[in-house]
Amino acid sequence: MLALTLTCVSVPVNILSPSKKLEDLRSRRWFADASMRGFAHRQRMQQQGWRREDVMGRPMVAIINTWSDLSPCHAHLRERAESVKKGILMAGGYPVELPAMSLGEVMVKPTTMLYRNFLAMEVEELLRSLPCDGVVLLAGCDKTTPGTLMGAFSMDIPTIFCPAGSMLNDRYVKDGVSRTVGAGTHTRMFWDEYQAGHLGQAELQHLESRMTRAPGTCNTMGTASTMTGIAEALGLTLPGASSIPAMDSAHTRMATDCGERIVGMVWEDLKPSKLVTRGSFQNALAVQMALGGSTNAAIHIIAMAGRLGLDLSLDELDAMARKVPVLANLFPSGDRLMEDFYYAGGLPALMKVIEPFLSLQEHTVSGNTLAQVLTEVQVLDAEVIRPLNNPVSQAGALAVLHGNLAPDGAVIKPSAATPKLLCHSGRALVFDSQPEMLAAMADESLDCDENTVLVLRNAGPVGAPGMPEWGNLPIPKKLLNQGVRDMLRLSDARMSGTHYGTCVLHISPESAVGGPLALVRTGDVIELDVAQRRLHLQVSAEELALRQLAWTAPKPLVQRGFTRLYQQHVTQAHQGCDFDFLQGNASSPEPVIY
Ligand code: FES
Repeated sequence: MLALTLTCVSVPVNILSPSKKLEDLRSRRWFADASMRGFAHRQRMQQQGWRREDVMGRPMVAIINTWSDLSPCHAHLRERAESVKKGILMAGGYPVELPAMSLGEVMVKPTTMLYRNFLAMEVEELLRSLPCDGVVLLAGCDKTTPGTLMGAFSMDIPTIFCPAGSMLNDRYVKDGVSRTVGAGTHTRMFWDEYQAGHLGQAELQHLESRMTRAPGTCNTMGTASTMTGIAEALGLTLPGASSIPAMDSAHTRMATDCGERIVGMVWEDLKPSKLVTRGSFQNALAVQMALGGSTNAAIHIIAMAGRLGLDLSLDELDAMARKVPVLANLFPSGDRLMEDFYYAGGLPALMKVIEPFLSLQEHTVSGNTLAQVLTEVQVLDAEVIRPLNNPVSQAGALAVLHGNLAPDGAVIKPSAATPKLLCHSGRALVFDSQPEMLAAMADESLDCDENTVLVLRNAGPVGAPGMPEWGNLPIPKKLLNQGVRDMLRLSDARMSGTHYGTCVLHISPESAVGGPLALVRTGDVIELDVAQRRLHLQVSAEELALRQLAWTAPKPLVQRGFTRLYQQHVTQAHQGCDFDFLQGNASSPEPVIY
């Protein structure tokens, strides 16, 4: 048996649809037109050095590139675009590179989530307004995967996702012991140690310069690795593509393969609506759980399914989480990094282990079914990709909670939480804003102890706005000094997939639209029981009704531009936070060419 992940295969097999003919190409509407407009379109491409027969005789393939100087995870994507172009040309296509919003997770404020739908709209409208017959999406940093895919789903032309790949591991030596470190999870760990006085300034500066040592996405099982894994599970990447480190030569070859394969897909008319089914989404859920994936996926996967007209509910996610344990030994649920995952066989090897939970007849962009893709795959390191009888965590990558505090649901990641806090009740300490909360955490006289339940509100899709990753509320400095490293924390915000802790997130409906979270007061008792999937505020219904009458919605901070549009149209977390007018699979008409 072979490990499939070390190279990507491109298998141009005709499936699902008859071949397209040259005259059927969408780009022909621009270039084969006999009017003055067609003349101008051909003329302008020849202005760039292309020959008339190139634009007239080849499918035009867009490469949507989310590269920018402020997206370090995508620093290599300009070079990868050249590899994709090479593949497209070799297969007889015509490549065109189109820049799109880069959404570097760390740099964009207040949060990239505010702009995920913006990117999705940009991708959809770029593809619609230009003569594109197919598209290769170059992305990977957190929101760029769902953002580009949502846009491509709505446009529904042949699509391959080319994942950016994760960054390389680093090593950190302390007290003579060398250990592997990476971005995200370790950032929070080291920062807490620094705050508690266990790490000096010089050490912190050393880590600052070393922990992110190469281009590529965060190398823990954060949102980036979760979402690129989900893209592969949906069949939208070449097999094994999502696990290849960004700086491996296999990554460059995979990019060339994407270019070569997309041309075949254009001729086969292999579009997302034909390729991605409800079964594909069930596969994606199984992969999310086995990876110990980010809680953010609970939002993105519902939004992505919605773009194809498929209803996916939080309860379906919970049902899959109860069946599929965490098998990938990766931070924050485990103790390895993405480079280790690649050497262990990568995503195909993990999917091989969870075959009993997969719908194997689903197709992938390779042209093969999942069953065919997994035939010769094996796990190369069972410590990193665990068998079903030796999981990293039985607690599950996700649990969906309900109760009088979260009528439409909330989520928690049990595998990255402190087990004893998964059944906990305590007195609430409530904050109405992030600045207020941060100031309080630094106050060494703050009235709290390790049993206190920290509550942050007005941090949801409408309230923040954009639902930032504030849900991993910092531990109060006073308690950090006492050695406390985790507490029960509640919010309508999200949490970085690289982070850990007992954090109840995505409480829906959010407080800013009048959800019950808005009614909690400091001193109220909150109960969490993850085994029972229960989140309860110990306040009577009568008292809550009185508080609701006295409640007024917070005034929006921003009154103009995209943020205003966002606040008016974003849906709640349990619905995927897409815009209400973009959900569903109703197609827009092709533009008039004149
Ligand atoms: Fe880009 Fe983490 S900051 S993937």
